Parts: sequence; C-alpha cells; structure tokens
Amino acid sequence: MSETQHAPAQQVEAARKAFEQEFERFARFASDLDSSASLPLEEALAEQRALADLRNRHLGKKSALAAAKKLIGRVAADERAAFGQLVQSTEASIVQALEQAEQNLKQLIEQQRTARESIDVTLPGRRPPYGHRHPITIVRERIEDIFVSLGYVIEDGREIETDFYNFTALNIPENHPARGEADTFYTTEGLALRSQTSTVQIHAMQRRGVPIRMIAPGRVFRRDTPDPTHNPMFYQVEGLCVDRGITMAHLKGTVTEFLRRMFGADTVTRFRPSYFPFTEPSAEFDFSCFKCKGSGCRICKNSGWIELGGSGMVHPNVLRALGVDPEVYSGFAFGLGIDRMCALMYELDDIRLLFENDVRFLEQFE
Ligand code: DAH
Repeated sequence: MSETQHAPAQQVEAARKAFEQEFERFARFASDLDSSASLPLEEALAEQRALADLRNRHLGKKSALAAAKKLIGRVAADERAAFGQLVQSTEASIVQALEQAEQNLKQLIEQQRTARESIDVTLPGRRPPYGHRHPITIVRERIEDIFVSLGYVIEDGREIETDFYNFTALNIPENHPARGEADTFYTTEGLALRSQTSTVQIHAMQRRGVPIRMIAPGRVFRRDTPDPTHNPMFYQVEGLCVDRGITMAHLKGTVTEFLRRMFGADTVTRFRPSYFPFTEPSAEFDFSCFKCKGSGCRICKNSGWIELGGSGMVHPNVLRALGVDPEVYSGFAFGLGIDRMCALMYELDDIRLLFENDVRFLEQFE
C-alpha cells in the first residue's frame, strides 16, 4: 500500500474520531433515557439544536466525510472497494448514533411537554390571595370613624387648586414663601398641587355654609426631597368646626378626645403657641407617647411627647372672605399628617416604604 493510498483511509478514520469526540456529550441520549429524564424542557430543546448542528457538520456537504466520498473514484482500483466500504460503514455508524440520540431526545422533549401541560384534577384549587387595606387607609378610616361619631362629615377636596383656595382664601399673604415654586408644585397652567388640606375648609364652607363640622383627609404635595421622614406626596387630615360660640376649649376638648380614642384613654395632650396665617391664635399640639406613656423611648426620641399637628381658631379674615360674620360665628381648625401617624403606629423607620407598594412590606399590616 502506497502512502497516497493510506491517506484517504486515514481521513475517514479522523472524521470518525472527530465525530465520536463531539458526540460524547450526547451519548446519554443514545443509550439510557431515564438518566436524562430530569433535563428541563428548555435545556432539552437546546440539546436538540446542538445535535442538529453536529449532524450538519459531520454529514453535511462540507463535512470531512463528504470530502472522503469524493475520493472513492480516485483511489487505486484494487483499493476502491475496500475504501468505499470503509466510507459507507463509517457514515452508517455516524448516522445510526445520531438517529438514536435524535429519536430519544425527541421522545424526552415530548414527555416533558406532556408533563408540563398535564393537570392533576385531584389537587385542591388555588385560592386567590386575599388583599387588605393599605396601612394609610387603615389609619385614615380609624380617624374618620372617630370624627363621624363626634358628628363630623367627611369632605373630599381637590388635589389641583387655584391660588385662591391654596393661599389667598387662607389668608396667606401675596409674598409668602409657600407660594413660591421652591415649595409648591405648579401645573403649566399655573394651578397649584395643593400643599395642605386646609383648602378644603374653604370649599366646604362655600358649599355647606355655617355651622359646619367636617374633616377632610387627602393627599397633599410639596417640593420636598424624599428622605426617611419626607415624601413629596403625603396624606393629611384637616378638621374644621364653625358655629356660634366656639372657643379654644372646644378645640382642645375635641383634639384630646380624638387622641384618647386613637391611642388610649390615658393619652395626655398639650398645646404650644405657634403661628399659621389662617388661624389666630394658633397652636401646635403634641400627645404623650403611646409606647412609653411619657417616660421616653425611641419613638418619642426620649421626650415623652409626639408632635402631631397644627391648629387654631379660624382667622376672622378667612371667615370674612367666605361671607361669614366673625362677630357671630367662630371656629377652630386643625391639620395633621396621616402617614406620619401611620409610621409612628407601625414603628416604620422610613415613610417612603408606605408609597413603594411592595406587597411583601404591605402585607405585614392588617
Ligand atoms: N395646614 C397646616 C400644615 O400643613 C396644618 C394646619 C395648621 C391646619 C393649623 C390647620 C390649622 O387647619 O388650623 O402644616
């Protein structure tokens, strides 16, 4: 046998070896199917594509075997038959290995598809998860229940306001910083996103007249940078009571009763002089810490008191702007932050958690 006659047979041998080497990772599909039965469907499909690729490379037009076939006519006549047989048997063994693997893989894929689509009718149905109210809603409704039981109506205001309702009618002077764009959001038409629920005092008195007793919970907006205690959108509740002969004693009694019902009968309230344009006199109110009962803890920052909101006697200018005679009628108003109260009650470190709507967080508070 000459050197040139050896070469074609070696080529075929090399092609077989190359195939066998690459085929090794598919061998599991060629024999024992059970061991691969746990293969996920997506992986089985990827293997199927890889196998088709392998077939193309080793049996396709550009394969080493196809090149060897072309040599059959060119080898010496006495070697031709043997060489032809070698090529054929090599091809046959490659085809057989591929076909078996392809078939088993196909069967595996079908099994996986059927398993995925099958339904066990004996399994109990899946219960749709029950939702519940958002913690802010829970606190808001508790506040509403208390005031409704005290004879207050619940008013619903607007979130977008004209200057008149957001500022002017509330006796906020023309050059007050709150009117500036640094503090308040404005629409392109120059309307303000209300920065406090006090706006509802005006709407409510315009619509219902006096006497009136109302609370108005709702969202307000301020240009604050978000941090653990601030969010540009938050919730307040406003209260207003106007009638003949209303005094600061009514204000103190009402706020105190509200806080007792909210945080327990032993809750103590205190008022500190303050300033708001729409009340005169004005006061901020605090209540004794519901957690430590006044002895000092983390929640009340060791002061024993929790600051809650602003209040005061409705300014005569506010009443006058609505055509109510301040010589006949007087009233009190107050405002407090619902989310702040909510964060305290649930001991949250960051009020922004209340607005992210992450169910894993919210589902803790029923
Ligand atoms: N609107 C005030 C604020 O957002 C809170 C407030 C203070 C409301 C005094 C009132 C009030 O009704 O009388 O800070």
